[in-house]
Parts: sequence; C-alpha cells; structure tokens
Amino acid sequence: MDKKKVLEALNLDLEHEMSAMIRYLHHSFIVTGPLRGTLVNMFRTKARESMDHAITLGEKITALGGHPSVKIQEIYEPGDQTIEEMLEENLECERKHLDMYEKQLNLVQDNTPLRLMFEQVIVEETAHIEDLEMYLRDSNKKMAKV
Ligand SMILES: [Fe+2]
Ligand SMILES: [Fe+2]
Repeated sequence: MDKKKVLEALNLDLEHEMSAMIRYLHHSFIVTGPLRGTLVNMFRTKARESMDHAITLGEKITALGGHPSVKIQEIYEPGDQTIEEMLEENLECERKHLDMYEKQLNLVQDNTPLRLMFEQVIVEETAHIEDLEMYLRDSNKKMAKV
C-alpha cells in the first residue's frame, strides 16, 4: 500500500464528509412546511452519520501518522431551496462520495482493516443513496412489481 496516496485519499474523504455534515445540518435548519418534522430528523441523522464517517477517517489518518485536515471540500450555498432540490443535491453528493470511495478501494486491497473500513463506508453510502432515492420517489405512483 502506498501510504502517502492513502493518506491523501483519507484526507480528501474527510473534507467531503465535513462538507456533507454541514450541508445536511444546513438543510435541517432551512426546511419548512408540513413535512418539516420528518425531514429535520432525516437531515440531522445523516449529518451525524457523516460526522461518524469523518471521525473514522480522522482517527485513521492520525493512526497512520498523518495529520487530519480541518478544511471542508465544498461550500454549498444555493440559497433558498425546495425540498426536492435539497434531496436532489444530497443525492448527487452521496453518489459522488460513493464513486470516490469505490475508486479508492483499489488503493487498500493489500491492507485488510483499511479495505474493510472502506467497504463498510461503501455499504453506508449506498444506504444513504437508496434512502434519498426513496424520499424522491413519487408516493402517488404504485410500486412496480418485480
Ligand atoms: Fe459519508
Ligand atoms: Fe453519506
């Protein structure tokens, strides 16, 4: 394993998770309307899960002898958003994260704990994507039978 490359990847991931945490919290503050209660809970749960990922990554960076970044990767400030726009923005970011983690998995194939850590994060990002896709699914449409 190329430690320098892995540390760079982990720090990039950490910065993305910090952005996600802030983005979800922000959405939990600005969401209004009759669905507010449900969505505040959902956004804050996802903010906490992003923080959990950030903690896992930050601890690992220090354990490997690196220095965890304090930067955030992106600042999202599109102004007022509809609920649908918030959900779409989160879904797009989650898909980007999943893609990033899946690519980075190649860097850690020879290190079992790191490989498992990435795989676990990949499972959780996939759950985030599936959850947001269900939030965005039209509830008036009947489920297609498979
Ligand atoms: Fe995450
Ligand atoms: Fe996520």
